[in-house]
Amino acid sequence: MKSIVILISGRGSNMASLIDAAADGSLRARVAAVISNRPRAPGLEIAAGRGIPTRVVDHARHPDREAFDAALAEAIDAFSPDLVVLAGFMRILGDGFVARYAGRMMNIHPSLLPAFPGLDTHRRALGEGARIHGCTVHFVTPALDRGPIVAQAAVPVLDGDDADSLAARVLEQERRLYPLAVRWFAEGRLRLVDGRVALDAEQDAAASLISPRTRERR
Ligand code: GAR
Repeated sequence: MKSIVILISGRGSNMASLIDAAADGSLRARVAAVISNRPRAPGLEIAAGRGIPTRVVDHARHPDREAFDAALAEAIDAFSPDLVVLAGFMRILGDGFVARYAGRMMNIHPSLLPAFPGLDTHRRALGEGARIHGCTVHFVTPALDRGPIVAQAAVPVLDGDDADSLAARVLEQERRLYPLAVRWFAEGRLRLVDGRVALDAEQDAAASLISPRTRERR
């Protein structure tokens, strides 16, 4: 069975959905470890409580990005994972680090990329008057929040939404989408070929437009 290492920086709700999917067998992969760059990330306790080994590689204790990236790679490689899964990991990674895990590192981002890379995506989507928003799972390449797209889920932006209500609607989809994308990788149905995603899976599952539950609420 393939194994994954999950990188987090904070509360770890995406991480928890991946751990749950591994536990019930639907992820088809084992979570070898959870690594945080923040010693107090709440996700660390959640992972430990579910019996997953945890490590901290504190960026503040390394003099520069190269040193941090080297320590992080060492911590990851100790578990020899097939896939590195960024789940709310909020550090920019150097090109050398990204190249080391080319084709075997994924990220989830809270927008429909290439719209709204970077931070504060929900507030910015509201500010632009977007009517549809969502989340994207993509392979990691050196450009921030870029890289070949694996799957996306869209949600409506509703009248009266604020950044919190919109974030909650998107997060519900993130927690559904990420385990699905990791499962495809674990099953060998998802690969990077010449920098493009090759996916042997239900195409409609890779692009989920407006979930039935959110449609009901309109
Ligand atoms: C998620 O919304 C994730 O998409 C986002 O951080 C949140 C982490 O929540 N990631 C990024 O913005 C990366 N650019 P979580 O810790 O509860 O999973």
